[in-house]
Amino acid sequence: MTKVFLTGATGYIGGEVLYQLLNSKDHQFEVSALVRSQAKADLLVKKTDGKVTPILGSLDDLEVIKSAVFDADIVINTANVDHVPSAQILSESLLLKKTPTILIHTSGTSVVGDDLSAVKGPTDEVYSDISSIAKINSLPDEQPHRPVDKIILDIQDQNPNVKVAVVCPSTIFGLSNGYDKINSVQIPDLIRYSIKNKQAFSVYSGAYIWSHIDIKDLGDLYYLILDSFLQKKNIPSGKEGYYFGSYTLENETVKAEPSEIEHTWRQVSQKIADVLLSRGLIPTSEVVDLTPEEIVKLSGDNFAPYYWGSNSRTRGDNGKKIGFAPKYTTLQRFWDSIEIDLDHILKA
Ligand SMILES: NC(=O)c1ccc[n+]([C@@H]2O[C@H](COP(=O)([O-])OP(=O)(O)OC[C@H]3O[C@@H](n4cnc5c(N)ncnc54)[C@H](OP(=O)(O)O)[C@@H]3O)[C@@H](O)[C@H]2O)c1
Repeated sequence: MTKVFLTGATGYIGGEVLYQLLNSKDHQFEVSALVRSQAKADLLVKKTDGKVTPILGSLDDLEVIKSAVFDADIVINTANVDHVPSAQILSESLLLKKTPTILIHTSGTSVVGDDLSAVKGPTDEVYSDISSIAKINSLPDEQPHRPVDKIILDIQDQNPNVKVAVVCPSTIFGLSNGYDKINSVQIPDLIRYSIKNKQAFSVYSGAYIWSHIDIKDLGDLYYLILDSFLQKKNIPSGKEGYYFGSYTLENETVKAEPSEIEHTWRQVSQKIADVLLSRGLIPTSEVVDLTPEEIVKLSGDNFAPYYWGSNSRTRGDNGKKIGFAPKYTTLQRFWDSIEIDLDHILKA
């Protein structure tokens, strides 16, 4: 049995990854999962029929993480992607490993997002995880997620026993196959705060483009990378092992407007406005422009304006190179997911 240490197993991404591991037809995994409470431990054990061994602790319990890493053949990190101390202890522990070990870490495409601005519009700048890799590897520390990315991307160069890949998802949509929290962040939060605001809103004009991916396709990508490493395929790893969780179009001519695998946040806000009005949850389908300050006040989250106020256009060329072919990511499913998210929020 191959031993996996997973963080974030009760979360949206980690839950989908865990589902993929437990339902693998090719490999048998013995999964240990870091969980923050006994209640979450009990829940995971119950929902997976005892197939997961909980390890009680948080990302701040560095000794717990260290010992779990020593014990594992595979480490998959899907908890807080900005937690520097746990990234450092992951690195320190992995640098000591003398046996072949795989690390799949999670980031997010805000890492290549642009600044908030009242006057900017959509960009035609698209990042490929192959042709833009030099730029990605030299992003400044001020970019979201970059401080942790830097620590993780350095590991393989220092210890070749460890194969490292970073999965960097764009906007993730749809409900996951996970075990506890099964919905995403960006769109569900925009729905919640639109209800709270009694009107849908965008950050300034909202005319900013993001790529997107269905959570089930994202789970497939984690699995494909893991399976390729286990089969000893020579896939991109280390500083070249950056995998945008977005996909790539054939013979694309990039324009400053969304392609069929992208959206603007204004379009999402308008769809939310239409759906909420049709359900009688807000009184108007008009979308109002808010400033970042107004959004921080509304949400209580300093990062919230960046969710819906940056451009982040990415192409997962590395995924394509290793055979990733998304099955679920279609524009129809993307737009339909907004009503599904709303139903999930109302049910909760
Ligand atoms: N969803 C997206 O669209 C997206 C896209 C790109 C990147 N990301 C990033 O990927 C990460 C996971 O996202 P998600 O959507 O899966 O989040 P999520 O649903 O909130 O799940 C987070 C998971 O990590 C665990 N966790 C959080 N902080 C922890 C800590 N200090 N110690 C131990 N466990 C901790 C949570 O445990 P509990 O159950 O105890 O809370 C949960 O299992 C986040 O950092 C997020 O910013 C998300």
